[in-house]
Amino acid sequence: MPSNRGLRSPLPLTAILSLSLAHSSAATALTAIRQYGSQILEASLVRRQEQNSTVVAAPISIAPSQYWDGIDGPWSSFALQVGTPAQNVRVFVSTAAPITWTIGADGCPPGFVDNCANSRGFLFLRNESLTWIQNSIFDFQLEQNLNMDTNGNAGFDTATLGWQGAGGPSVQHSTLFNVASDVYWLGAFGVNPQPTNFTTFTDPQPSFMTQLVRNNSIPSLSYGYTAGNQYRLNKVFGSLTLGGYDSNRFGSNNITVDMYADVSRDLLVYVQGITSGSTNLLPGGTISMYIDSTVAMIWLPTDACKAFEQAFGLVWDSTYNLYLLNSTQRTSLVNTNPSVTFQLSANETGGDTLSIELPYSAFDLQVQYPIVANPNTSYYFPLQRGNNTQYTLGRTFLQEAYIIVDYERHHFKIAPCTWNQNAIQNPDIRAVRSTNSTRNGSDSNNSSGVSAGLIAGVVVAIVVIIAILAGILWFFRRRKNTVKRTRAELEAKEAGGAAQHSSDAENKPFISAPMGGELGGGEIHELTAPHKPFASEMESPHNKVIDPNKAGYSEMGAGEEYFGPGKGFAHEMQGSEGPVYEMVGSDVHEMAAEQVTERPKGV
Ligand SMILES: *[C@@H]1O[C@H](CO)[C@@H](O)[C@H](O)[C@H]1NC(C)=O
Ligand SMILES: *[C@@H]1O[C@H](CO)[C@@H](O)[C@H](O)[C@H]1NC(C)=O
Ligand SMILES: *[C@@H]1O[C@H](CO)[C@@H](O)[C@H](O)[C@H]1NC(C)=O
Ligand SMILES: *[C@@H]1O[C@H](CO)[C@@H](O)[C@H](O)[C@H]1NC(C)=O
Ligand SMILES: *[C@@H]1O[C@H](CO)[C@@H](O)[C@H](O)[C@H]1NC(C)=O
Ligand SMILES: *[C@@H]1O[C@H](CO)[C@@H](O)[C@H](O)[C@H]1NC(C)=O
Ligand SMILES: *[C@@H]1O[C@H](CO)[C@@H](O)[C@H](O)[C@H]1NC(C)=O
Ligand SMILES: *[C@@H]1O[C@H](CO)[C@@H](O)[C@H](O)[C@H]1NC(C)=O
Ligand SMILES: *[C@@H]1O[C@H](CO)[C@@H](O)[C@H](O)[C@H]1NC(C)=O
Ligand SMILES: *[C@@H]1O[C@H](CO)[C@@H](O)[C@H](O)[C@H]1NC(C)=O
Ligand SMILES: *[C@@H]1O[C@H](CO)[C@@H](O)[C@H](O)[C@H]1NC(C)=O
Repeated sequence: MPSNRGLRSPLPLTAILSLSLAHSSAATALTAIRQYGSQILEASLVRRQEQNSTVVAAPISIAPSQYWDGIDGPWSSFALQVGTPAQNVRVFVSTAAPITWTIGADGCPPGFVDNCANSRGFLFLRNESLTWIQNSIFDFQLEQNLNMDTNGNAGFDTATLGWQGAGGPSVQHSTLFNVASDVYWLGAFGVNPQPTNFTTFTDPQPSFMTQLVRNNSIPSLSYGYTAGNQYRLNKVFGSLTLGGYDSNRFGSNNITVDMYADVSRDLLVYVQGITSGSTNLLPGGTISMYIDSTVAMIWLPTDACKAFEQAFGLVWDSTYNLYLLNSTQRTSLVNTNPSVTFQLSANETGGDTLSIELPYSAFDLQVQYPIVANPNTSYYFPLQRGNNTQYTLGRTFLQEAYIIVDYERHHFKIAPCTWNQNAIQNPDIRAVRSTNSTRNGSDSNNSSGVSAGLIAGVVVAIVVIIAILAGILWFFRRRKNTVKRTRAELEAKEAGGAAQHSSDAENKPFISAPMGGELGGGEIHELTAPHKPFASEMESPHNKVIDPNKAGYSEMGAGEEYFGPGKGFAHEMQGSEGPVYEMVGSDVHEMAAEQVTERPKGV
């Protein structure tokens, strides 16, 4: 019977609802149910569609390399894989640079320094990457105000953060510079999202960060960073989180500062005072300073430098343009242990202020050859005399401060680091949500992702509606047996038409336009792409590519182990014997199931 077939169609819902209209007795009640039901269904479909097109990625905590590097530090570095097959290098984080640079073969000419390649974080040999796309030689256009701009071979290649096998985020067409210059001893990974303009391309080239956001690898154009140091606790490595921050390292006192309009000095903060005990080290009053992890030192006005000289007995060495310290001076300073407090604010005068106190140990750094020669190493005080275009809070400052930089809201937050062994060993990774997120919330609360409760509610609602409709179906089927055949045939026609319509409506979000929502068709491939390459990466033997770092020294004395599967995510834990909780933190705060489950090794 046609009528029976109509009623047994696989999409009975709308069919039955339409059918119900034919029965005037039930029409009013059923219309109400239909409207309610279709609203809920619609809501659930829209939500599923949104979920598919905007699966919210989890923030990624980049494990430190576990090495201390640099010839003006020591500084905690991060691992980066460049090219195909991947070459492992160690780099610093540059909050100023939108580009990533590595040291090239010509960065270590014969007889330059002992163990040069290792000292410079290992070299990236362009000629040995199958995927390197050469552009040309370009200036970095970076730190020009500090006379620290340099140039290098620009090009594009695959870059992946973290050691091999750690599953860190990857960008296939990343803007890279390969340099010989020793203006920067190590390479750097740039977290600034400004695009790079090359005269050889008409289009600006997107930054690593922008590409990660576009690839849905991280939830927003934001990061959290602190440089780490050797003097706190049992040495504390740097911490870099992309798309979020580690709330266990970010002290509760914080200030929020709007980004400065000049994109090359966006992280500009007012320093209202610098003191050491009762000594005023900023006699000229408030200055604005640029927070920049690219450089090690702190650039202050000359009168402030004079105040430091007087307070700490510093002597300017005009040969090397550094405040070098001989061992007598250094011992005396270490013993008196003066601290220096920076008073930061978003306001030039008044407003909320934040004090960041640097113990003397933060300044107790060493320079090495070729910065100084004969002797080839010296203690120094990381202070430079600057003019008003140069005031900079370098990596020295970021040993004690944690910054959360949100390029979508154009502001950044600064807080003193939390120095609690337990908290540092148990990162609490929070997402910074995108302003584009359909679930718009405050930028710093737990990103619970799609509420499980909401999903459950919608599912239960659908089940209830289906149950009600099944009951109605049963009612009409019983009743149908008593009505006339001609009438049943008429109903069947209506039901068939309605089912057809319903089929369209229901299928659209799933089949016709799976990504039709926010991202558009072009993104389909990218959204599914992460999983496949990842799988093959995880299956591949990690030792296949010889890692240059194995040959190098290891601060931990366990260099070989860093490349084993899964080892990558223990790195955050300096001196930690226990298990690693980093991903647990992510799991808790992120509901993007696929992303999270695929990434546990990633961090
Ligand atoms: C790449 O360049 C380096 C240094 O110039 C050289 O030692 C190496 O043999 C080259 N590799 C290839 C495959 O040409
Ligand atoms: C997107 O991210 C995945 C996972 O990190 C990576 O394998 C893939 O290469 C990325 N896609 C592009 C176009 O960079
Ligand atoms: C790069 O080019 C774009 C236009 O293509 C321009 O808006 C932008 O300001 C340029 N950026 C820099 C740093 O010159
Ligand atoms: C920053 O400080 C405010 C109080 O001034 C606090 O409510 C907020 O949670 C802090 N932000 C973070 C990320 O801890
Ligand atoms: C260390 O430097 C200070 C200041 O320049 C100087 O007075 C002192 O003699 C030096 N001591 C040694 C042992 O060189
Ligand atoms: C500080 O600056 C913020 C915006 O940058 C402003 O809203 C606030 O009123 C200022 N506070 C004072 C005391 O000037
Ligand atoms: C300093 O290092 C250079 C290069 O490694 C070396 O030639 C020189 O002999 C060293 N000087 C001293 C005093 O060690
Ligand atoms: C600041 O100092 C740098 C380096 O000495 C110099 O190039 C620049 O012109 C100076 N700027 C001003 C405004 O004096
Ligand atoms: C999310 O909120 C921000 C302000 O925090 C706003 O600028 C943005 O338009 C909102 N986005 C959506 C999709 O509502
Ligand atoms: C947010 O969406 C707008 C419009 O779709 C896009 O131009 C912008 O790049 C997006 N921003 C981020 C951070 O994804
Ligand atoms: C939603 O995405 C998942 C995984 O990305 C995919 O398996 C599923 O088919 C998608 N659903 C629709 C309706 O596109």
